[in-house]
Amino acid sequence: MKKVLITGAAGFLGSHLCDRFIKEGYYVIGMDNLITGDLKNIEHLFKLKTFEFYHHDVTKFVHVPGKLDYILHFASPASPIDYLKIPIQTLKVGALGTHNLLGLAIEKNARILIASTSEIYGDPLVHPQNEDYYGNVSTIGPRGVYDEAKRFMESITMAYHRFHGLETRIVRIFNTYGPRMRLNDGRVIPAFIGQALRGEDLTVFGDGSQTRSFCYVDDQVEGIYRLLMSDYTEPINIGNPEEITIRDFAEEIIKLTGTNQKIIYKPLPVDDPLQRQPDITRAKEILGWEPKIDRVEGMQKVYEYFKNLSEEELDKKEHREFTSHNIR
Ligand SMILES: NC(=O)c1ccc[n+]([C@@H]2O[C@H](COP(=O)([O-])OP(=O)(O)OC[C@H]3O[C@@H](n4cnc5c(N)ncnc54)[C@H](O)[C@@H]3O)[C@@H](O)[C@H]2O)c1
Repeated sequence: MKKVLITGAAGFLGSHLCDRFIKEGYYVIGMDNLITGDLKNIEHLFKLKTFEFYHHDVTKFVHVPGKLDYILHFASPASPIDYLKIPIQTLKVGALGTHNLLGLAIEKNARILIASTSEIYGDPLVHPQNEDYYGNVSTIGPRGVYDEAKRFMESITMAYHRFHGLETRIVRIFNTYGPRMRLNDGRVIPAFIGQALRGEDLTVFGDGSQTRSFCYVDDQVEGIYRLLMSDYTEPINIGNPEEITIRDFAEEIIKLTGTNQKIIYKPLPVDDPLQRQPDITRAKEILGWEPKIDRVEGMQKVYEYFKNLSEEELDKKEHREFTSHNIR
């Protein structure tokens, strides 16, 4: 039985990856320090003989007994609210955590895939963003802790590939959504749906003309799976190129949820990228991948998930205290 280690397993993407690898017949080791994750996301796996969980911080030495075939490094605070609140841990997990996992990959002779991000393109001067674009990132701005950690992560991964001949894969993930996102994670979809479900007005930052593109989690997981199984070692964008302005998206949420609230506007936060759209030509050519789930279908699924959360969960004070929900 092939064995895979997934870091960030209790988080949004990590938990869906655990599900996918279990479904494919793998033995899965999930690792997480629960800094932004929640065991609820993987508790359904605890009864399986093919799943194990290690409560561990990957910035400390990582030991896993026995063989390992694959490592997927997804541990990292991922939303602006999280990484602005825990900036040092964000830098450490991207830098020290990645270093530890690359070392483990060498020891086990395992193939490693690391989760990079569209944020390495910063506030892009090229649109849509293809993998050859080097980005427009501030090293010292508040978001630098995330963006630069991910850029370092890509560099050290390529260095291990070139110097040690390690089997490495790099995915550049664009905004992804789906069940198990947290209502208070500061991202636009849970923020809008949370407001609609609580009967509050929807807050748009700036004039709402900034664009985003959203990829449904099942499509994202399929892209990651195909990349891991491919022999391609350069970075690949995985995301949905269908672009929408935040203002139009807010209108769509109003229609979807049937809320009779209105849109209110607040000033734009620092470094908010104005455009975000993946060029997925490389993923199409190399992996034969493109997203299959459109926004209407995906949003319906995620709305069902949030609708079924308890009122108590929806109404938590911290869920109403977001400040910059659309910064990515
Ligand atoms: N969701 C997206 O749209 C998106 C976009 C681009 C990149 N990514 C990347 O994908 C990965 C997962 O993102 P997500 O959206 O699932 O976020 P998430 O916050 O839901 O999951 C991250 C998980 O990593 C864990 N973690 C953080 N630091 C750790 C450490 N030092 N040791 C062990 N575990 C640690 C957290 O507890 C959490 O469970 C991240 O690397 C993120 O940068 C996600």
